[in-house]
Amino acid sequence: MDAVNTPIQHTIVGIFTAVLMLIMGLVLKVPWSTALGRVSFILLFLALLIGPVMKLKKPSHVSSPLKSPWGWRGELGIWFALTGLIHFIVILLDRPFSELIKIGGSGYALANLLGLVALVWALILTIASFGKVIRFLGVDSWKWLHSFTYVVFYLVSAHFIYFQFFSTYGEVGPDWFGYLAVSMVIVIIILQLTAFVMTLMKREPIVLEES
Ligand code: HEM
Repeated sequence: MDAVNTPIQHTIVGIFTAVLMLIMGLVLKVPWSTALGRVSFILLFLALLIGPVMKLKKPSHVSSPLKSPWGWRGELGIWFALTGLIHFIVILLDRPFSELIKIGGSGYALANLLGLVALVWALILTIASFGKVIRFLGVDSWKWLHSFTYVVFYLVSAHFIYFQFFSTYGEVGPDWFGYLAVSMVIVIIILQLTAFVMTLMKREPIVLEES
């Protein structure tokens, strides 16, 4: 996520979110609570796509959240957290919290717990994305905190993989979204690994002094 969030970019990402929601809900007939979760995941995926792609294309000195043109990351991140929060609230309207996260032998409760931890982190990262907060934190702490975005992504991935592949909740077995979302996870893993290898290749060799 970046610090320079412009109203026009927020409006565009907001419209994009609304269009995705309408396609999911009205065209694909996905229940609204599930549609919110799916749209939230897609926005997080897009936000994460930008990081490694920028790293592959641009040198690391542009990676300051206050100076660099990180484009759409902040807006996507904020809309991800917002739709994730609404997904949670809509589900809560239907089922009490004590039923969602219940101690005692249920994969369903564990999947919900993973979603909740992801959501709490998403909200922390959103608060930490405002310019004033970044100035207070300093760029290094901001970067350290935002490396948790990947943790959030993998927590959400485990969350949806449970519902799609391992639960008897709703339709049993994955649908088109299950396969699409797993492909998105694989894309992020490949991009992360590629960016890591590129960073390794660009690094200055360490010269060890002989004593
Ligand atoms: C950032 C936070 C979250 C994201 C991105 C997210 C994402 C998703 C996704 C993608 C699905 C769809 C699975 C499918 O296609 O079958 C889903 C389903 C579900 N999520 Fe989440 N989730 C989040 C947080 C939560 C939380 C905090 C809870 C409850 C404690 C929760 C409860 C559920 C439940 C019960 C379902 C099953 C489908 C439904 O009832 O709509 N999620 N979530």
